[in-house]
Amino acid sequence: MVESPGLSIENLSIAFDDGRKVAVSGVSLSVPTGEAVGLVGESGSGKSLTSRAALGLLPKTAKASGRIRLGDLSILDMSPAQLRSVRGAGIAMIFQDPMSSLNPVARVGQSIAQVILSHEAVSADDAESRAVTLMDRVGIRDAKARAGSFPHEFSGGMRQRIMIAMALAAKPRILVADEPTTALDVIVQKNILNLLDQLRREEGMGLLLVSHDLAVVASLCSRIAVMYAGQIVEEGPTKEILVRPRMPYTAGLLASTRRDKSVKRLTSIPGSPPALGDRAASCRFAPRCRLAIDPCRSAPVELIEVGPRHGARCIRTQEMAHV
Ligand SMILES: Nc1ncnc2c1ncn2[C@@H]1O[C@H](COP(=O)(O)OP(=O)(O)OP(=O)(O)O)[C@@H](O)[C@H]1O
Ligand code: SF4
Ligand SMILES: [Mg+2]
Repeated sequence: MVESPGLSIENLSIAFDDGRKVAVSGVSLSVPTGEAVGLVGESGSGKSLTSRAALGLLPKTAKASGRIRLGDLSILDMSPAQLRSVRGAGIAMIFQDPMSSLNPVARVGQSIAQVILSHEAVSADDAESRAVTLMDRVGIRDAKARAGSFPHEFSGGMRQRIMIAMALAAKPRILVADEPTTALDVIVQKNILNLLDQLRREEGMGLLLVSHDLAVVASLCSRIAVMYAGQIVEEGPTKEILVRPRMPYTAGLLASTRRDKSVKRLTSIPGSPPALGDRAASCRFAPRCRLAIDPCRSAPVELIEVGPRHGARCIRTQEMAHV
């Protein structure tokens, strides 16, 4: 069988405290090369743990099970040294706060060149001139001069561009972006999202875009996976998710996104998600769900197919089709 060169997560679970606290339960998700997939959900739903697991970057105290494949590589079975060689060229990640990932005492051009040198047998001069080209590519004006600046000499948006240049330096097949624009103002956010979209198309990369904001992932991704309390509760084509959500939590997220726009204030679904050690085997959304009935609270709810490549974890998807 020829393996897909993309990222494939199968039945991933991540637990802490000897299995007593299960943060991620049975997550399956694919990110083919060239496609953008969004992972969305409230704070604490397990988005970052899922996406970090794809790079073998889980905290030491976490225990992961399931399968994560990058092409024909099995990420969860790799040694730290093997993972280091895959990070960069196979899969790279950018985070919400570039300041915490950039070396504050290194000139940005050197930091980018370092990534190139650690993946390719090129001279230091070549790596530095490629670093300048990459800075130019991600929209940093006067890149040659700015390569000699330190991270604190850039604005938040420009620092995020430098992080993207660093991520691109090793030519990854998959780019994971965890809340890459959350700390930025709206216009800079839009520019960075446009840049990610352009790079995905031009480089043929797969993009896993993680955000708590459904509007952000919808603007860029052809598919969306919605996470709630450690599980994927709905996954499907963006258009279907936006027009015909089949799980009440997705519908609630959508409604709050739309209300936000019209009244310009943050609204949310009433109630809060269950704590890590308190996640029921039945539908985890039941305490907050206006459609909940007794069977929702008595047995686990599986993800069921509700349309072509569209799944929802709900026993009332039929009713959802008509609300
Ligand atoms: N090192 C850790 N030890 C114990 N629990 C952890 C650890 N890291 C994360 N968790 C817990 O796992 C759950 C999922 O965390 P995760 O960071 O993946 O959430 P998230 O969806 O990315 O949230 P946010 O939107 O706030 O970034 C949370 O309840 C979090 O408290
Ligand atoms: S299974 Fe029941 S409680 Fe859970 S989302 Fe569907 S209707 Fe609501
Ligand atoms: Mg997170």
